[in-house]
Amino acid sequence: MTAASQTLVQSLAQLTPEQVELRDDFIRCCRDTRQTMPARWLYDHRGSELFEEITTLTEYYPTRTELGLLRDAAAKLHEAIGEGRMLIEFGAGSAHKTPALIEAIRPARYVPIDVSGDYLRESSAELAKAFPDLEIEPIEADFNRAVPLPHCPRRLPIIGFFAGSTIGNLTPFEATDLLRRMGETLGDDALLLIGMDRVKSLDVLLPAYDDARGVTAAFNLNLLHRINRELDCNIPVEAFAHEARWSEPRTRIEMHLVALRDVEFSLGGERISFGKGATIHTENSHKYRFEEARMLLRCGGWEPIDAWSDPADHFTLFLARRDS
Ligand code: AVI
Repeated sequence: MTAASQTLVQSLAQLTPEQVELRDDFIRCCRDTRQTMPARWLYDHRGSELFEEITTLTEYYPTRTELGLLRDAAAKLHEAIGEGRMLIEFGAGSAHKTPALIEAIRPARYVPIDVSGDYLRESSAELAKAFPDLEIEPIEADFNRAVPLPHCPRRLPIIGFFAGSTIGNLTPFEATDLLRRMGETLGDDALLLIGMDRVKSLDVLLPAYDDARGVTAAFNLNLLHRINRELDCNIPVEAFAHEARWSEPRTRIEMHLVALRDVEFSLGGERISFGKGATIHTENSHKYRFEEARMLLRCGGWEPIDAWSDPADHFTLFLARRDS
């Protein structure tokens, strides 16, 4: 074994399985001509903190618009969904919007599903204080796979909730698959309430992903800091800049990290180089026209039955019934 491969084996032995995956994804991304990193790597502890900060920015309209919709449409949501269901929230995270939905539809049971156990425990404790009569049963799991729901002797009707237009971070093909898996998790006759961000003027869209204070830039660049921190790498982070691009054919915002000069560094014994202007594509955020959103739901096995949008048509909450 050469000295270089010995060092590689030693450093790999110290990595967690997740870090090995991060390393492999990053090396694959650097070798690939399209240079795309799976967006989930943006969300380590620091990345999640920065994302929380993004949701409070003036430029970032989706969070407050969706929350406003949940509050303004409370009576209509109650009428369409009724009370006493089991509410399953996918990717509950910090669950900021959940109280508004709970107040509107008064579920009997709340089951948040999230990969981050810390966030789940914190937000479940907060909700238990605010809604002492609500049964809460958090599940720490990756909702990208079908998740077995906790046994419920009363066979409550089910409603799923997928907020924040997180569906937009997937390509339409991936989104269709996820919607189908959600259908498997929720079962026949379930309802799904899903927030979807709409196509709109670039004057609104671009600042939402490139804010004046640079929080989104910090969120994007944190990916490189994370790789340096976790993989003992030496990427010169200052040689990269955040860029938010609109792709008209795909109706999506793309986040990129653009090399400002020729860059070279090593990772696990590999030399990696980026020419000036090359980019690492870190996230997509698809935006949908009203009819396209309905079509996506149908392709994913859900029949849209109602929808609520803000007056500017920036964001829509769709209610759909499983089409089994
Ligand atoms: C989590 N997701 C819905 C956000 C979005 O708007 O696509 C992620 C984000 N990335 C940059 N700003 C926000």
